[in-house]
Amino acid sequence: MKTKPVPPQIHIETFGCQMNEYDSELVRTLLKRKGYVFTEDRECADIILMNTCAIRENAHTKVYTHLSDLKALKKTRPLVVGVLGCMAQNLKEDLTNKEPLVDILAGPDSYRQLPILISNAMRAQQQGEKSKGLAVDLSEYETYDDIVPERVPGVNAWIAVMRGCDNFCSFCVVPYTRGRERSRDPEGIIEEAGQIAAQGFKQITLLGQNVNSYRSGDWDFAHLITALAKVPGVERARFTLPHPKDFPTSLLEAVAFHPRICKHIHLPSQSGNDRILGMMNRTYTRREYLLLVDRIRSMNPDIVLTTDIIAGFCSETDAEFSDTYRLLEEVRYHSAFIFLYSERTNTIAARKFPDDVPAQIKSQRVTALVELQRRISTERNREYVGATLSVLVEGDAKKSPLQAMGKTDGNITVVWNKTALPSQPGQLVTREIYDASASTLYARAL
Ligand code: 5AD
Ligand code: SF4
Repeated sequence: MKTKPVPPQIHIETFGCQMNEYDSELVRTLLKRKGYVFTEDRECADIILMNTCAIRENAHTKVYTHLSDLKALKKTRPLVVGVLGCMAQNLKEDLTNKEPLVDILAGPDSYRQLPILISNAMRAQQQGEKSKGLAVDLSEYETYDDIVPERVPGVNAWIAVMRGCDNFCSFCVVPYTRGRERSRDPEGIIEEAGQIAAQGFKQITLLGQNVNSYRSGDWDFAHLITALAKVPGVERARFTLPHPKDFPTSLLEAVAFHPRICKHIHLPSQSGNDRILGMMNRTYTRREYLLLVDRIRSMNPDIVLTTDIIAGFCSETDAEFSDTYRLLEEVRYHSAFIFLYSERTNTIAARKFPDDVPAQIKSQRVTALVELQRRISTERNREYVGATLSVLVEGDAKKSPLQAMGKTDGNITVVWNKTALPSQPGQLVTREIYDASASTLYARAL
């Protein structure tokens, strides 16, 4: 009797942002269609793919450490190693020359070539040949429109509506690793949202490197998100990551007034100083940014604002850093991601400006901002004590299985005791807040 051939097993590891998580699901769908099987266990994988991130130094270092772990594994058995995503794109020479370990490199626009790259690499390995499979061309058109990623059942589903970025912020590697901006057709996105809602997802989060610059024909982002919020079954619509330059009145109104578009805007400011903002090529001044904040809050004061900040950018003085510190004090965001500037190969900043703020000063600045933001986040969250909020239940709390957690419309985490307040993931419940920390609101029975 003939035995069925065992299909090669793939293990995929994902680093970095939500777009990378999304891309890993695309890759999974694409390769499953070609008969590959996926395993959670890297020890029994024939192929290990690493979907990488190059946006900041620490992501980059993590990937390199992981690669050296794989070196040991590869010595013990036949193994094909592939590097996907932003690092594959950005470090092609480095990774192919210095890392004999890597068999396949595939950039973010080349995932369709993976089945052929993998089968070639496996054949070469069986025949004892040395081969490298390289697919790193960026495309002006690839949006993977026809591939619906395999979604893990849950409450939230991500939908990539656009890819790439044309902004060229001087510190950022994304325009080089992910290429030019391109948007999917609205019809396909709306159809996908319908399928997602029919599968039981209650929330959709629209995803893109520069999501609010979405444009397809005469559809802009406000038009798109409003249409998606109308899809039956979609209880909440969110989006990430926007740029402050693309907030026309129509989008502000959609967020401020549409009952199913969440009252949360992540508004990366990066710096509060005009000279630094100019060097960063952010295209707005501190004043313009603050005017936008005022407009948002005057339309609906309940909108939760969060941000990204980079501390220690090239030539940033103490006084310029203080402007950023004061920006946090003035805006009083609900939360902020604070990053230490790390120079990325190929970026405008790497070519034009020396990375001259000493490491110690950079860390001191990050620490000062983190401490300040922690205090503000706690104060902000305490403003909810006594309030009754609508919460979308997600599941068990991270810290304790005795507690459940969910998110407010403004994307703030709420936890409560499961026995006292029973709930199911996907339910919209009402919760009374009785206490708050910098990151969490605590609810009890009404
Ligand atoms: N160094 C530090 N932080 C960076 N970011 C992007 N590039 C860099 C860099 N070279 C941060 C920005 C951006 C977020 C996604 O990552 O704040 O908004
Ligand atoms: Fe990078 Fe700026 Fe584009 Fe965001 S908007 S992805 S920071 S270049």
